[in-house]
Amino acid sequence: MTSFDIRLIAHRSPAYEETVALRDDILRKPLGLSFTPEQLGAEGGDYHLACYLDGALAGCLILTPVDDVALKMRQVAVAEEMQGRGVGRALVERSEEMAREKGFREIVLNARETAVPFYDRLRYERVGDRFEEVGIPHWKMRKSI
Ligand SMILES: CC(C)(COP(=O)(O)OP(=O)(O)OC[C@H]1O[C@@H](n2cnc3c(N)ncnc32)[C@H](O)[C@@H]1OP(=O)(O)O)[C@@H](O)C(=O)NCCC(=O)NCCS
Repeated sequence: MTSFDIRLIAHRSPAYEETVALRDDILRKPLGLSFTPEQLGAEGGDYHLACYLDGALAGCLILTPVDDVALKMRQVAVAEEMQGRGVGRALVERSEEMAREKGFREIVLNARETAVPFYDRLRYERVGDRFEEVGIPHWKMRKSI
């Protein structure tokens, strides 16, 4: 079984900059978008998780505190050549574990419609109606942890 090395990384660290490049490749460039310095500057209070395989960055995600109860999961990105090999599942499961340890009780997220089956597998439920964000359809999803 593959063993992923999942770490909490610091905002503005070299490891963080590497995740920004991955997020840009996977989540922004395909939509013709890029991150602004303001968007990245606002991520200082977030938890940044990175997953490595044999020392190479395979995926990452961000957890943003909403209130004392909920964390918002954002920017879930797995390197193209690593997709479908359990990296996303490992990152989400570790996030849930970490969130519980920190006293949070719920994870919420805005899922791209194409990623809804992935979150379904991880037992997230859809709430509300389909909506548009960054020009593509999304669904709000949540899970009690
Ligand atoms: C969506 C994404 C994060 C999933 O990560 P991944 O590492 O490829 O997914 P995993 O291999 O961990 O899959 C976990 C489970 O979800 C299932 N799954 C993943 N993508 C799926 C899909 N598109 N349709 C159906 N099932 C899917 C897998 O079969 C697996 O099931 P199992 O563990 O029960 O066997 C990744 O593919 C990605 O970065 N996609 C592009 C960016 C994106 O859409 N990000 C999410 C924005 S909301």
